[in-house]
Amino acid sequence: MAIIGIESSAHTFGVGIIQNGEILANVKSMYKIGNKGMIPIEVSEHHIQNAADVIKLALDTAKITIKDLKGVGYTKGPGMGPCLQVGQLSAKTLSYRLKIPIAPVNHGVAHVEITKHTQKMKDPLALYVSGGNSQILVLDKNTRKYRILGETFDMGLGNAIDNLARSLGLEHAWGSDVERLAKDGSYIDMPYTVKGMDFSFTGLLTNAIKKLETEKKEDVCYSFQETAFSMLCEATERALLLSKKNELCVCGGVAQNTKLAKMLEEVASENGVRFAKAPNEFNADNGAMIALVAENNIKNNNFEKLENCDVKQRYRIDEVVVYD
Ligand code: FE2
Repeated sequence: MAIIGIESSAHTFGVGIIQNGEILANVKSMYKIGNKGMIPIEVSEHHIQNAADVIKLALDTAKITIKDLKGVGYTKGPGMGPCLQVGQLSAKTLSYRLKIPIAPVNHGVAHVEITKHTQKMKDPLALYVSGGNSQILVLDKNTRKYRILGETFDMGLGNAIDNLARSLGLEHAWGSDVERLAKDGSYIDMPYTVKGMDFSFTGLLTNAIKKLETEKKEDVCYSFQETAFSMLCEATERALLLSKKNELCVCGGVAQNTKLAKMLEEVASENGVRFAKAPNEFNADNGAMIALVAENNIKNNNFEKLENCDVKQRYRIDEVVVYD
């Protein structure tokens, strides 16, 4: 049974198709972020313009027709309201026209589940680091919900990195620019904030932006990354010791950063646990991860009535029952 998944929570309109766990297509169209960041209504306009073409491209890539679809999933949240609504409307239209079940999906759950699926992990401690979220997660076997062991007190690390990238005055501000500049930098002191297994990035970001006035941008990028990633590693190691998990994964947009993965790999190896992360196409926002969770939900008869298919901008990961 082919299941289509639609992701539209932020800059990406992504469509994936999955059949019995096999990913048949994972295609997308991305809104180009300029130096002003994302204006939700402009991003949603991009999604509206591209939705039909991306869905068609996914069907062509999977070599199936629309009539082969047996279910549909979409990102319910968290994310930007106008953007989420484009995916919601696309999915509801498919469900209504094709008379197929529809499953609303939590974006964070999807990032963790696609990592477990592609990396063949059973029960990892997951560090989920994206634009809007930074959380340390374990799955509670009794409730089948993720438990948040630690999280950011303020902003997601991805947003902090994007903010720093914009302050560098680059035409298109991406986290990968900060990573590239950091390769030629040296360490300068920056504020480090970990409380138990929680952490905070706003003080670090303010300090880094201020230091751009007097220090080399390479040094600021290097020191920002070293400080933020060390904070994540300290909190993750504490969570690893507490949870006694023998697998560690990182997922979400910031998981594409090779330095973060290297540092976490060291934490895992020092503690004798297996470390893995999914290929970057699944750490970036994508439709395949939504299709995967939708397939698991639909297989377990957990789908939603069309009239109840809403969006939720602040949709917490620990509200959701997870199926596999
Ligand atoms: Fe994401």
